[in-house]
Amino acid sequence: MNENDSEKVLYLLGDLYEQTPHPEEADLILVNTCSVREKPEHKLYSEIGRFKDQKKRNPGLIVGVMGCVAQQEGENLLKRYPHIDMILGTQGFYRIREALELISSGKRPVVFTDLKEDFKFPLVLPQKPQNRRVTAYVSIMQGCDNFCSYCIVPYVRGREISRKPEEILDEIKYLVEMEGVREVTLLGQNVNSYGKKERDFPDFAELLERVSQIDGLWRIRFTTSHPKDLCEKLMRVIAENPKVCKHIHLPLQAGSNRVLKRMNRKYTREEFLEKVEKLRLLCPDIGITTDIIVGFPGETEEDFEETLDILRQVRFQEIFSFKYSDRPFTTAKRFSDKLPESVKEERLKRVHSLQAEISKEIYRSYLGKEVEVLVEGISSKDPQKLTGRSTQNLVVNFTAPRLDMAGTLVKVLIEEAGQHSLRGRYLATLQV
Ligand code: 5AD
Ligand code: SF4
Repeated sequence: MNENDSEKVLYLLGDLYEQTPHPEEADLILVNTCSVREKPEHKLYSEIGRFKDQKKRNPGLIVGVMGCVAQQEGENLLKRYPHIDMILGTQGFYRIREALELISSGKRPVVFTDLKEDFKFPLVLPQKPQNRRVTAYVSIMQGCDNFCSYCIVPYVRGREISRKPEEILDEIKYLVEMEGVREVTLLGQNVNSYGKKERDFPDFAELLERVSQIDGLWRIRFTTSHPKDLCEKLMRVIAENPKVCKHIHLPLQAGSNRVLKRMNRKYTREEFLEKVEKLRLLCPDIGITTDIIVGFPGETEEDFEETLDILRQVRFQEIFSFKYSDRPFTTAKRFSDKLPESVKEERLKRVHSLQAEISKEIYRSYLGKEVEVLVEGISSKDPQKLTGRSTQNLVVNFTAPRLDMAGTLVKVLIEEAGQHSLRGRYLATLQV
């Protein structure tokens, strides 16, 4: 989501600025921020502090903060960091050019942190085609209406708004025709509720079907799916539409019904398990990944064991696990039964070691198999190898007779399984 917003800002800036790989030489620094968890937020504060000295050396330097923390803290940031010139919230960043004009006419600092419920987010495309690339993110909705009790997103990204289907389709067509994109990832906090609040909008399953009709686009991914809104119609599209990748990120968060209720997740462990079973029945080779929060307020050892139990039953391909942290504005922040850091640490370690075993076995099950890989380019770890992903979103690094195969679909024989990737060798080209 953040990467996608940063890209939009680059497009909005057009020729005004040129991107530099050397931040110490920049005339404009824009820090995009995430406040979903405590850790990335802290990282941001140490970053902003550092730009103070740089401003002393280069008084023309403009420093801006955008994204969730900008939205969350607004003007408060100026008290701690008076060297910030602009604060652009999650809708405010679309007004970057206006902000720069205000600053150049001496009106600093600029703070754009309005959050409108009927916000129409503009279609932002590059002013000239960018470099050719294989994959791209396309945001299909903004905000969230779910109010999970631990989560800051509804407060910093506002209510859920779906983009018009025509705009989404136009953006993807542009990416395919002008930049050579072959795979798009449709983004939203809860893509399964796409279009539900609008009259005459397709639902998410129908949107996927419409996107899949775009010529030259080969693969479609999407994230994130809320388990409560995962319906059979969508499961069938995933299973039956050849362009839709066989992967779903389905955040479980916790395995105990008591904790799920306090998290306001609106599903039970039984319902979650039932959906996974149905999904696998319809689409046996689907890769399922999830998010887990350990140490939610009041989580007992028994509750936690129920999370481990689901991990054993479902056998997710990969999980992203986090220690619960208090976030501003949220209901859970006000719960009194917080757990000590040591308990959260210990539970996180147990989740990691159980999952490491499961992932290892899943990765090893691909040994000797042939998988389809969309080549993304040269592997960053080994310049003699190519890298890409299988339909299940597994990273595959492999040797090939040529290295200029980015953007082609190839068949790879898997010869080794690592912790988070597979290794193999090129067998054949399937599509160019
Ligand atoms: N503490 C820990 N993890 C959190 N997440 C969201 N809010 C919190 C929080 N307060 C995690 C959830 C979510 C992922 C994006 O971040 O697992 O799915
Ligand atoms: Fe946060 Fe829940 Fe919305 Fe996801 S569904 S963004 S966890 S409130």
